[in-house]
Amino acid sequence: MTDAAKVSVDGKDFDYPVMSGTVGPDVVDIRKFYAQTGDFTYDPGFTSTASCQSKLTYIDGDEGVLLHRGYPIGELAEQSSFMEVAYLLLNGELPAADELSQFEHTISRHTMVHEQLATFFRGFRRDAHPMAILCGVVGALSAFYHDSTDIHDPVQRTIASHRLIAKMPTIAAMAYKYSVGQPFLYPDNSLSYTGNFLRMTFGVPAEPYEVNPAVEKAMDRIFILHADHEQNASTSTVRLAGSSGANPFACMAAGIACLWGPAHGGANEAALNMLREIGTPDRIPEFIARAKDKNDPFRLMGFGHRVYKNYDPRATVMQKTVREVFDALKVNDPLFDTALRLEELALSDDYFIEKKLFPNVDFYSGVILSAIGFPTSMFTVLFALARTVGWVAQWNEMITDPDQKIGRPRQLYTGPTQRSYVPVGQR
Ligand code: ACO
Repeated sequence: MTDAAKVSVDGKDFDYPVMSGTVGPDVVDIRKFYAQTGDFTYDPGFTSTASCQSKLTYIDGDEGVLLHRGYPIGELAEQSSFMEVAYLLLNGELPAADELSQFEHTISRHTMVHEQLATFFRGFRRDAHPMAILCGVVGALSAFYHDSTDIHDPVQRTIASHRLIAKMPTIAAMAYKYSVGQPFLYPDNSLSYTGNFLRMTFGVPAEPYEVNPAVEKAMDRIFILHADHEQNASTSTVRLAGSSGANPFACMAAGIACLWGPAHGGANEAALNMLREIGTPDRIPEFIARAKDKNDPFRLMGFGHRVYKNYDPRATVMQKTVREVFDALKVNDPLFDTALRLEELALSDDYFIEKKLFPNVDFYSGVILSAIGFPTSMFTVLFALARTVGWVAQWNEMITDPDQKIGRPRQLYTGPTQRSYVPVGQR
């Protein structure tokens, strides 16, 4: 605590403590504000409100910095693995070699799903969006794994966390297989977390599947880039759902529902669809003009971010990864050239400069995922798979936080004041 913030309400002065983290803006502790002043604060979209304390992830949006437990995302993406980052987020420190292999072993022993879960998929239409399936199936896990739903038991919390991280690739791959009418593949625990996911998605039982190491590395890196992002909309949803004591599987389903929206996880799908609609670089000015037109709801998808007012550091890694995947698969999607040109033109346009709108992580991810062979409807599913690690780590942190309370925002009521009921015949 460093200082106090003074607030004057109806001529009376109140002091509120200012709390400091290890880095980043201080926060004014207004927990007693209502009790003392009788007023609420108003902050739709939480643009100025810290909803919790957290040790997991730090973002400096002005500088384009993203740290997990203090480690820069660029270093983790280049040198680490998704399993290592998962361990780091869950436990606070990078694992020693034996801790990492034990963790990988534990996760790989939870990759299978209850056999009856397969029948659950058949209730969905074949053309169901895989995010709709994911929402339903992940929510249903609480009906299959009763022995890890007691949130007050730390052992059950750990098992649920491992189950969620381990089973998400299996469920995501099953959602894909269901949509294309191919048989589900069981996990192969001799493969890496990411290699196993690629095989369950693109392999068929009729022939052996060989994991392409360059694609496996790129995919693992994409998972790292999406693993956590502090109090974003879906993570806040997971925390809010969890604050009532809901079980972790139900909380993850809530997070998946929130992530689906085009302003959040759905943006990578929307960004690729937009690039396809633009088609060739000569049409870019037309779309930039639309994005700037106040009367047109169109926005450049994959551009802008609530927190980053600089280049999203994940987009830098993602742009590099596009080239690696293209080289490995010997493809050259002209949409990448369109994306590069769009970025160049937007970043030299006064509208985007003034509003500090830069490419975010979703701008390039669609181009890579499409080159690997994923249909656009799977993009947000992949995001959910990776973000499960962050959701689980944040959920665990919330449950053990002594300041944790049920999340219950206030409101500014603008509806009618009290009036008497009029029977229907007299209206
Ligand atoms: N294209 C054109 N104009 C934009 C864009 C965009 N992509 N993004 C923001 N703006 C403009 C807005 O019109 C607004 O202009 P105004 O001040 O004249 O009204 C201004 O920039 C600020 O925009 P807000 O929507 O108020 O900013 P906010 O922080 O609430 O929104 C968001 C951030 C939702 C990400 C927004 O930039 C957006 O819609 N981007 C496109 C969708 C997208 O890429 N989402 C992915 C986010 S990253 C993730 O979830 C992993």
